Amino acid sequence: MKFARYSSSVASVVPVHDIFRKSRSRLPFNIFHGKLTGRRRILNYSQKRQLSAKAKMVVEQYLPPWFSVAPMMDWTDNHYRTLARLISKHAWLYTEMLAAETIVYQQDNLDRFLAFSPDQHPIVLQIGGNNLDNIAKATELANPYGYDEINFNCGCPSPKVAGHGCFGVRLMLDPKFVAEAMSVIAANTDAPVSVKCRIGVDDHDSYNELCDFIYKVSSQSPTRHFIIHSRKALLNGISPAENRTIPPLKYEYFYGLLRDFPDLRFTINGGITSIDEVNAARKAGAHGVMIGRAAYHNPWHLLGHVDSAIYGAPSSGITRRQVLEKYQVYGDSVLWRDGRKPHVRDVVKPLLHFFHSEPGNGLWKRKADAAFQHCTTIKSFFEETLVAIPDSVLDAPIAGPPPPGREDLFDNIQTLLPPPYESSEEELLCA
Ligand SMILES: Cc1cc2nc3c(=O)[nH]c(=O)nc-3n(C[C@H](O)[C@H](O)[C@H](O)COP(=O)(O)O)c2cc1C
Repeated sequence: MKFARYSSSVASVVPVHDIFRKSRSRLPFNIFHGKLTGRRRILNYSQKRQLSAKAKMVVEQYLPPWFSVAPMMDWTDNHYRTLARLISKHAWLYTEMLAAETIVYQQDNLDRFLAFSPDQHPIVLQIGGNNLDNIAKATELANPYGYDEINFNCGCPSPKVAGHGCFGVRLMLDPKFVAEAMSVIAANTDAPVSVKCRIGVDDHDSYNELCDFIYKVSSQSPTRHFIIHSRKALLNGISPAENRTIPPLKYEYFYGLLRDFPDLRFTINGGITSIDEVNAARKAGAHGVMIGRAAYHNPWHLLGHVDSAIYGAPSSGITRRQVLEKYQVYGDSVLWRDGRKPHVRDVVKPLLHFFHSEPGNGLWKRKADAAFQHCTTIKSFFEETLVAIPDSVLDAPIAGPPPPGREDLFDNIQTLLPPPYESSEEELLCA
């Protein structure tokens, strides 16, 4: 049984996440569906082996999303995800990273961190942390919210996280711990699990070291899906933003993993900026493609073509004006929620790139700056600012081909692959 989101004919008529959820509930085993009794499951050796063996079956049935929007701290919050879902029904959406400790210590306030509108499915929760007990507990606490997948962060280079926090990308140096963490996550959730990592850290940047990490994590835990941000992280004091530009992208490592771990599933991430590149990455063999900054900086043109150009679904024909009308209803409903102060600026933040490179964009931003000073509703904010945008922009549906990208980005990738991974299983298990 294959998930129908890999079949454009089915994906075009049925919401992908419905298919996904129905399929998942029919999986012919129930190790990921064990009833939680309110007590976290910490596994003994034979349970771990059982989990791992059963997990091998998952790969036959679980396929990663063709297209996803990356987890981005302070960016992919509820507001952005609401906007993204209005534009694309099929893109998978990742939350910002939530530290396991935050979830555990905010047990009385979980909705603030974990709640999302049902429209946001398919949605993935990303957790970070380095304490197994808290990771298990956080996963268990997130369970009732019904995330479609739980992802574990092994890629964040921020000094707060990878520095004194000692998690994020630093965990790539401790695959044994990552395997333990993934085992407790899998044992405490009904959802599939995945790891998001880099291709290396500092001098630990050879292809073989990356393979060792993937091998150890996948052979000692139920992890079968890895999202690979295809550049290494430098922990020598450069900023997180620099860590997303200075280390070079090495897509050849990603495609090497596809060759050397044919039983696993890999999503490519890093530097992909157009629909053409998404389709080129998939044509070259990637199981899934994740885009971060480009989906934030140009949501209309990037997400607007995902459903038709990637999933083969008919175009929704929705216009920016219709998106804004729906977003206004959402925005005004959350402004006064919980009696908190209005935060028009926060709700409007994901829209600041909505008119990217369109006529009127500059004037709209200036009007927005002024309106932030006094508008207390999204309705009044729109009334005051949208006069800057021509009707031709507001009323044009997503149509035509997506803006062109580097279709040839992966054309020569097979000629650049590193030598095949060769470490023996015994060697690694004894390491
Ligand atoms: C503002 C910002 C915040 C980010 N926060 C996270 C995060 O919370 N977790 C994570 O795994 N990656 C995070 N990332 C990294 C992205 O998920 C992604 O791996 C990276 O931006 C490369 O993809 P891109 O080139 O498509 O943007 C963040 C990136 C940005 C720009």
